[in-house]
Amino acid sequence: MLSMLPSGMLACLQTPSKPPKVHSAFLRAAVLSLAVLATLADGKALEKRSTLLETSANGTQFIWTIQDTYAGKTFFDTFDFFTGKDPTNGRVNYTDRDTAFAKNLAFVEPDGTVIMKGDNTTWLGPDVYRNSVRISSRQQYNTGLFILDLNKAPWGCGVWPAWWTLGSGQWPLTGEIDIFEGVHDNEHNQVTWHTGPNCTLTPNDQYTGSLVVGGSGQPNLICDGNIPGNAGCGITEWSRASYGPSFDAQGGGVFAMKWDDTGIAVWSFYRAAVPKDIQNGQPAPSTWGRPVAVLLPTACDPIANFINHSIIFDITFCGDWAGNSYATSGCPGTCPDRLIDPSNFDEAWWSINWMKVYKRQPILTQTDDARYNHVTKMVPYVAIFSMAALIWL
Ligand SMILES: *[C@@H]1O[C@H](CO)[C@@H](O)[C@H](O)[C@H]1NC(C)=O
Ligand SMILES: *[C@@H]1O[C@H](CO)[C@@H](O)[C@H](O)[C@H]1NC(C)=O
Ligand SMILES: *[C@@H]1O[C@H](CO)[C@@H](O)[C@H](O)[C@H]1NC(C)=O
Ligand SMILES: *[C@@H]1O[C@H](CO)[C@@H](O)[C@H](O)[C@H]1NC(C)=O
Ligand SMILES: *[C@@H]1O[C@H](CO)[C@@H](O)[C@H](O)[C@H]1NC(C)=O
Repeated sequence: MLSMLPSGMLACLQTPSKPPKVHSAFLRAAVLSLAVLATLADGKALEKRSTLLETSANGTQFIWTIQDTYAGKTFFDTFDFFTGKDPTNGRVNYTDRDTAFAKNLAFVEPDGTVIMKGDNTTWLGPDVYRNSVRISSRQQYNTGLFILDLNKAPWGCGVWPAWWTLGSGQWPLTGEIDIFEGVHDNEHNQVTWHTGPNCTLTPNDQYTGSLVVGGSGQPNLICDGNIPGNAGCGITEWSRASYGPSFDAQGGGVFAMKWDDTGIAVWSFYRAAVPKDIQNGQPAPSTWGRPVAVLLPTACDPIANFINHSIIFDITFCGDWAGNSYATSGCPGTCPDRLIDPSNFDEAWWSINWMKVYKRQPILTQTDDARYNHVTKMVPYVAIFSMAALIWL
């Protein structure tokens, strides 16, 4: 009797809970395509959502977009070589561009890595200054996000390197921001500000570093560079690998300085912990966690006190910091004597992958985001529904 029924009916009778076979195969294919499409769309949506918006002091939203890239063969084209006497009294002979290139104190490796170094090939007589390099960007900035990717930074007894920005005109009224700086074979980077009379550091828990103690034995909160003997207001990084041999040993890392109407802040990252957004060229400092150091806008107007800043790299020797601290540093002999033997300066060099400066790009979020959210909020539900349907079919 059963054999007399049409095959479709037969199928229905045998598997009453499932649709007919041909129908089912078609449905499966359709639902599978829907699931795949929805999952892909959701991935795209997540990707887009991960480009986080930053918020300015007045509440408007923006992202950081690239303004200048300093890297590879053209790195030195946009810098001037400083050849004056070292303002910090280092026992250094800053070489001009031609001398620096001729003596291999500044060059770019075939793979694009940028090298700058103190001379480590010349024996010097007593009291002769050692050749080195100090460069200053021609481009000047009045806010920005400055990111430096380093394989290695200079160190060694009597060595004093810095990566910093300096205002044009009368120091210290146009400001100085020392982002990366240290002496000898210290292990902790120090961030320091030098300003006119209107800036102080605020002791608080918004940053991970410790306030630098002044001559009085108390933290020095005053940034005014015109006060005699004031070495600026500084914050030392807690990380033991932010300067010196331990920084180099882990392959260097990334330093970032953000300067805008919300203040001035510095972060540093081990090589192994450089955030994805920095690697991708879409930096979002709001996702980086607490900075190492912060100068708050309530205690120092970040626009009025920092004007027309160039970016500087230098390596000096002895001088105000490395010279004056030499006797208590654990380094052998005296700083001037240390200068004589070139092999003492084998570690006095920078190896730079790139430096980038980002500027703020305002985003009109209200309209865009609302439209975007409305559609994409549905996407994960479609994906889940389709998967469930697939299992059921
Ligand atoms: C908010 O601040 C930014 C820069 O700090 C400025 O470009 C923008 O015009 C300001 N917007 C309003 C509404 O004040
Ligand atoms: C010191 O620097 C100047 C300027 O670059 C250069 O001409 C001179 O050769 C340097 N001195 C020595 C001893 O190399
Ligand atoms: C310091 O702040 C005062 C009060 O706002 C202002 O009058 C003065 O011009 C500022 N000084 C400098 C050097 O910026
Ligand atoms: C900053 O640079 C601008 C443009 O070159 C110039 O007009 C201005 O006077 C400079 N300000 C200071 C304080 O040097
Ligand atoms: C100088 O330093 C470099 C590293 O920059 C090193 O390769 C070289 O062996 C050192 N010594 C001499 C004599 O060049």
